[in-house]
Amino acid sequence: MLSELAATAFLALSLRSIISLNAYSGYNKPPMFGDYEAQRHWQEVTVNLDAKSWYTNGTHNDLQYWGLDYPPLTAYHSYLVGLAAKTQNASFVSLHASRGIESKEHKSFMRLTVLTADLLIYLPAIWILSVAIDRTFQSNIKELLFLLLALYPGQMLIDNGHFQYNNISLGLAAVAIAAILCNKNYLAAFTFTLALNYKQMELYHALPFFSYLLGTTLSRKSFKSFAIELTAIASIVLTVFAILWLPWLHSIEAASQVLHRLFPLGRGVFEDKVANVWCSINVIFKLRKHFQNHQMALICLGTTLLTVLPTNIILFWRRSKPMFLLTLFNTSAAFFLFSFQVHEKSILLVALPAICLFQWWPNEMLWFLEVSVFSMIPLLKRDHLLIPSVAATVLFHLVFKCNYFKPNKEQMLENKLLNMTVAISEILMLSILVGSLAIKPSARYPDIWPLIISVVSCAHIFLFLVWGYVKQFMQCDRKLYNKIE
Ligand SMILES: *[C@@H]1O[C@H](CO)[C@@H](O)[C@H](O)[C@H]1NC(C)=O
Ligand SMILES: *[C@@H]1O[C@H](CO)[C@@H](O)[C@H](O)[C@H]1NC(C)=O
Repeated sequence: MLSELAATAFLALSLRSIISLNAYSGYNKPPMFGDYEAQRHWQEVTVNLDAKSWYTNGTHNDLQYWGLDYPPLTAYHSYLVGLAAKTQNASFVSLHASRGIESKEHKSFMRLTVLTADLLIYLPAIWILSVAIDRTFQSNIKELLFLLLALYPGQMLIDNGHFQYNNISLGLAAVAIAAILCNKNYLAAFTFTLALNYKQMELYHALPFFSYLLGTTLSRKSFKSFAIELTAIASIVLTVFAILWLPWLHSIEAASQVLHRLFPLGRGVFEDKVANVWCSINVIFKLRKHFQNHQMALICLGTTLLTVLPTNIILFWRRSKPMFLLTLFNTSAAFFLFSFQVHEKSILLVALPAICLFQWWPNEMLWFLEVSVFSMIPLLKRDHLLIPSVAATVLFHLVFKCNYFKPNKEQMLENKLLNMTVAISEILMLSILVGSLAIKPSARYPDIWPLIISVVSCAHIFLFLVWGYVKQFMQCDRKLYNKIE
């Protein structure tokens, strides 16, 4: 087992290193550059300024230029990486002067920081998750799960290619999910709060944790144990928040400034093309013409709540661990489709629970994961990452096909319809990809290919959400209702 574990980790890090050799977001695109420069700029700001001024505009912190818009844990992480950068070469983070630095030396440093986070946080976290799933459901697939989580192209391409640190927030969320599966509810509350404080997008995962933990504490036999447990969980969450937010808690104004940075309503319902409902509706019905920004925010809030509440209420009443994983999938998919200010990268938050559902619906989930990478193609193409994207996805597909146990005859029959649907969908996605490379868009519709990719991916993700709901509602999937405590 140890040698398999080491081999997978080695393969995962090697692939990430190869992807790292490619371009990143904003390479050679002054004056604003991209996510790579944003991350570097946060190191510059946090290393040089007082924590109090990290989120506020000032002469040394122009928020128009990649102002910090992630929660405090990201800021502290930037600070640590910034300190390392300073010892490497002070010019990497010198105030103002370091803007837009693009040397080879700097690229190696930045890429290494992501690989470090992969090695220290993401890989151990997904191993813990694989073991937890294996133990809880006695499924005997921990090596395969670890392999699939480690080689999922979406996370590699965004973190080691495009340039971000989703590996940290997703790693923390993975440990939180593992903790729920192992009945370590306090640990789950602790690690999930950390994840939420690294990236606010972890809100996509928050409701299932909330319903599951509340439901569990409410089901305790005596009022006393209920009260003790609930108080303990609330104290853990509040203490972690208080410690992380300490530099901005001296005044309401400072705290609300941080909040304002995390939820910038002014940026509108979506920025780039994204595979969600609003961007798709916008093709025929121009939302911005008919609704003001705050109205749109309310519409998003309403539809998101409408789509996430039923699944979480079911979880609250019929708590089981498979149900928890399915609810995570449904909730994050609904958030991705309906909420305000969704980014292409946020599909990674749906991919994590999707991999957790592998043992029940392997073919469906492989299909979903491939759709998730397809939905990010416009972004990856912009970053000149198309070749590594296709290569990593083909590799992932093959690893799955070579490793997964062969279904028996009965399942084969059941799978026939599914296999046909998947084949049609994959041919469609491949044709669109080839079409987008071969056929130049007309001057009248320059964005036609990203738009087609977004709408097709959105239709897929929407169907997956419907599928998830059907699986939850239909009693026929009895295994979901057998409580595994
Ligand atoms: C923020 O500060 C910069 C100078 O550092 C200034 O140019 C800009 O106008 C300020 N923005 C706001 C919104 O105050
Ligand atoms: C630090 O980086 C700057 C700019 O990238 C470069 O000119 C300089 O040679 C580097 N210094 C060292 C000691 O590597």
